Amino acid sequence: MRALQFTTYGGPEVLQWAEAPEPHAGPGQIRIAVRAASVNPIDWKKFSGAMSGGEPMAGTGYLGADAAGVVDMVGEGVTGVSVGDEVFGRGQHTQAEYAVLSAWAAKPPAIDWAVAAAAGVAGETSERGLRLLDVNAGDTLFVDGGAGGVGAVTVQMALVRGAKVIASASEANHDYLREIGAAPVLYGQGVAERVRATAGGPVDAVFDVAGKTPVEDLISLVPEPSQVVSIANFAAGQAGARVTGGGRDSHPMEALTLVADLLSQNKLVLKVQTFPFDRAAEAYRTSQSGHVRGKLVLVP
Ligand SMILES: NC(=O)c1ccc[n+]([C@@H]2O[C@H](COP(=O)([O-])OP(=O)(O)OC[C@H]3O[C@@H](n4cnc5c(N)ncnc54)[C@H](OP(=O)(O)O)[C@@H]3O)[C@@H](O)[C@H]2O)c1
Repeated sequence: MRALQFTTYGGPEVLQWAEAPEPHAGPGQIRIAVRAASVNPIDWKKFSGAMSGGEPMAGTGYLGADAAGVVDMVGEGVTGVSVGDEVFGRGQHTQAEYAVLSAWAAKPPAIDWAVAAAAGVAGETSERGLRLLDVNAGDTLFVDGGAGGVGAVTVQMALVRGAKVIASASEANHDYLREIGAAPVLYGQGVAERVRATAGGPVDAVFDVAGKTPVEDLISLVPEPSQVVSIANFAAGQAGARVTGGGRDSHPMEALTLVADLLSQNKLVLKVQTFPFDRAAEAYRTSQSGHVRGKLVLVP
């Protein structure tokens, strides 16, 4: 099979769509024939070497943390899914012709492959953030970085919970934020004052998706520092905010089932831009720019 890969750290030019060994579904896993796999910032953090801890590259690196496709292998102990089923979910090395998923849900038939692929990491992360913040009906939530992959899903999932949502983006994405139901504010200096003015009352929770605003500014918005949860500023914990990277606080199967349900009801709508696998470098250049609207998705 072919897979997106790199053998040296660098920019998107190090990526190659080339032959790779086929993966196999282990216990609790499934394998899919990939129809679409999304780009997440973690992917370029990997191939740039930012996550290498200064160690030189050893072996070949592969990318991709979510995908949608057709099940062609079911691992030991897995029930409720069969060869031929159409699914989407989270996995490893998904930017390939075949990939192993560790958490999945049935793809709603009317939902496009690219949209389903885009919903894996963004959907699970949004469910996690909103659950940790205990966002409920009548609450006011501020999403810092609302127009990107995770942000746009969080905005819509918070609205489903009955919250009022304020979200930050560049000016160019304010109409997009209105379209998905958030009150837009400009990020950057003075963002906390703009959020307070827009809320016109207390802010109950902040989901820091971008990790760019000083955490003290975000904490100043909420009654308790712990009502700020960050997925991108790993130093935020020092100021009393909570930081999540998945792991134990992740409930991926439940999250993806909820995401599938919202997709099928059109309560979650994802804007996607697709690129063929052999033009992945273009998608990664856009992702690395840090100004993505919705999601970038690779397709065969
Ligand atoms: N910890 C976890 O579990 C977890 C899970 C998923 C993702 N992440 C991390 O979360 C981050 C976001 O992921 P993503 O997939 O949503 O990225 P993305 O799709 O690339 O979106 C990035 C968004 O950040 C916005 N932004 C840029 N500068 C900003 C600023 N100064 N203040 C506020 N927002 C700003 C951009 O808005 P404009 O386009 O309008 O400029 C863009 O919409 C990445 O660092 C990713 O690695 C962590």
